[in-house]
Amino acid sequence: MKIFNLMTLCAVASVALVSTAAAQSADRGKTLFTSECAACHSVTPGQNGIGPSLAGVYGMHAATTPGFHFSVALQTANIVWTDDQLEKFLRDPEIAVAGTKMPHPGTEMHMGMPSPVDRGDLIAYLRSLPRS
Ligand code: HEC
Repeated sequence: MKIFNLMTLCAVASVALVSTAAAQSADRGKTLFTSECAACHSVTPGQNGIGPSLAGVYGMHAATTPGFHFSVALQTANIVWTDDQLEKFLRDPEIAVAGTKMPHPGTEMHMGMPSPVDRGDLIAYLRSLPRS
């Protein structure tokens, strides 16, 4: 009976995990991107602004978008933009990559997204962007 209960618990837990992942919304991420990121980032390839274009950034090595002058910190961070790395960077850029030029909580711009749901949706949106 105990084993049965444990199995039921595992099944319930895994269903909960799957539905959390499925709940990530690229559409909601796009709305967040427009309000939180678009002032500095375009998603058009080659169109850099205050920040680099984020076209196809998912899966790329950090600081390799042509034509943008990245901080030495990001250039030498040796990061590939996977879910985990984006998650850390968006939570607090300065903790993820000390010395990055991307503003972070504590600066006037208050970058850094405290909500894990917001970060997940934003990452789902970044994942959906074509590289060219
Ligand atoms: C005030 C301007 C500004 C805002 C707002 C901003 N960024 Fe940035 N972002 C930058 C700058 C500048 C860099 C380059 C950092 C460096 O060189 O250290 C950058 C770098 C990045 C990178 C790394 C790109 C690469 O090619 O390695 C990602 C990913 C990123 N930003 C995502 C976001 C997301 C997502 C948001 C919105 C939640 C956002 N940024 C909001 C200015 C900004």
